[in-house]
Amino acid sequence: MEWWKTASIYQIYPRSFQDSGGDGIGDLPGIRKRLPYIRDLGFDAIWLSPFYKSPMKDFGYDVADYCDVDPIFGTLKDFDGLLEDAHRLGLKVLIDFVPNHTSDQHPWFLESRSSRDNPKRDWYVWRDPAPDGGPPNNWQAYFGGPSWTFDPQTGQYYLHQFLPEQPDLNWRNPEVRQAMYDVMRFWLDKGVDGFRVDVLWLLVEDALFRDEPDNPHYKPGDIDRFRHIHIYQEDQPETRQIVQEMRAVLDEYPGDRVMVGEIYLPYEQLMPYYGTAEKPGCHLPFNFHLIFRGLNNWTAENIRSIVEEYEKSLPPFATPNWVLGNHDQHRLATRIGHDQARVAAMMLFTLRGSPTWYYGDEIGMVDGQIPPEKVQDPAALRQRGASGEHGLDPGRDPERTPMQWTPHAYAGFSTREPWLPISPDYTERNVEAQDADPFSMLTLVRTLLVVRRETPALLGGAYQSYKAPEGVFAYLRGGEVLVALNFTPEPKTLSTPGGEVLLSTYLDRYDKVEGVLELRPHEGVIVKL
Ligand code: NOJ
Repeated sequence: MEWWKTASIYQIYPRSFQDSGGDGIGDLPGIRKRLPYIRDLGFDAIWLSPFYKSPMKDFGYDVADYCDVDPIFGTLKDFDGLLEDAHRLGLKVLIDFVPNHTSDQHPWFLESRSSRDNPKRDWYVWRDPAPDGGPPNNWQAYFGGPSWTFDPQTGQYYLHQFLPEQPDLNWRNPEVRQAMYDVMRFWLDKGVDGFRVDVLWLLVEDALFRDEPDNPHYKPGDIDRFRHIHIYQEDQPETRQIVQEMRAVLDEYPGDRVMVGEIYLPYEQLMPYYGTAEKPGCHLPFNFHLIFRGLNNWTAENIRSIVEEYEKSLPPFATPNWVLGNHDQHRLATRIGHDQARVAAMMLFTLRGSPTWYYGDEIGMVDGQIPPEKVQDPAALRQRGASGEHGLDPGRDPERTPMQWTPHAYAGFSTREPWLPISPDYTERNVEAQDADPFSMLTLVRTLLVVRRETPALLGGAYQSYKAPEGVFAYLRGGEVLVALNFTPEPKTLSTPGGEVLLSTYLDRYDKVEGVLELRPHEGVIVKL
């Protein structure tokens, strides 16, 4: 079976994982040093958020050179060393590919904006002002304000769905496509195992640039992007063609190179990104439903319906995937609490398909505390500026605080004050302490990954719904493993045929069950029937 069909992927946010240079910012040599930690935890692959040359207006999601490493993170040689070590340890390496937009400092954009007849003019999306001189239409950007910025030198507006410093590439232009496919080849030639593709569903916009309709659910104080329903800025049919072309580039290479797509869409719009059995598209279009429909409504009944609707929507050839956190979402343990974070981990690693895990969640890291004057996230700073409503919102900084390795100075992350404050709980909550604790979250994640690896039904077995009382979500895998998850603070019981407990989220029972399975508060168990 192809490796990615069962792989557990560990996401690293390079600024925050391990500093080796003593500047308070994580880097590639730091990550390299920590690879054995990830391998010993039991993950199969890492995904690195961007480390490319960048002015860092959006911390690397504004790329000025797709084929070089930013000096903050190291050099291309450092990357090669990291890749080599990872492969030696048996870890696959996925890197972030950011095709929707470049930095405004990318040479392509500098050329494009230099004159209306520059050969690269059409590499970006330029439009004349509206008759009143304002933006060409009503589109709003994710990070506040219009999706358009006026360029006085050439008298036109350019499109950016994020910051003005992140101009959108024009994916309708065949030269852009070829240039970006060559970027993919540059990294594939080096031996990377695939890409996590940034905002894959945003690549193409309506060719007629029509105004988007009003969103009836918008309320003052919401971010500007929510003013409209995005039928013209997002998920255009042409995107599917591009996905297939990207897939074809990956398929030029041996060794199962994989595309993971960042796509925040309802299931019916998400599924087409898989392509078809004959013409496959994205291997793993991220399924974020546990996050955006789940984490604010963390009940057994809601989570069961999220899982079962997904299982029903998947095309037969598709591999499912699950995500509980990333660098854009508040920390799992903050959203649902430490007890339920353990239950969530058991679920993530026992559902069918490939799970993605966010660094630090294995020690239950919580949202960091960011004083207003230390906020770095451009999305937060800009929206604060625009509306004044988000005065104290630290945006995405809380989930990006440095990894907590030890109880010592700067949590073992750096030798000096890091770029974001270390969460104050690091003296107790750190890898060193949890490594020595047989009941810690870290031990649970490591053990879950062992049980997963050693239980074929958990890797390949079909998913089957299992009847459970209110507050409990239960399912079978391959007809022979039962997973029962208690989402409540009360004890619960459910009936089972006989079996043997392989693992409890409490890490303290391996008993035989006969007829009745008793679950303690917030307990999840895996039972071999
Ligand atoms: C999605 C990324 O995950 C996020 O961090 C980034 O700001 C935007 N795309 C823009 O690239």
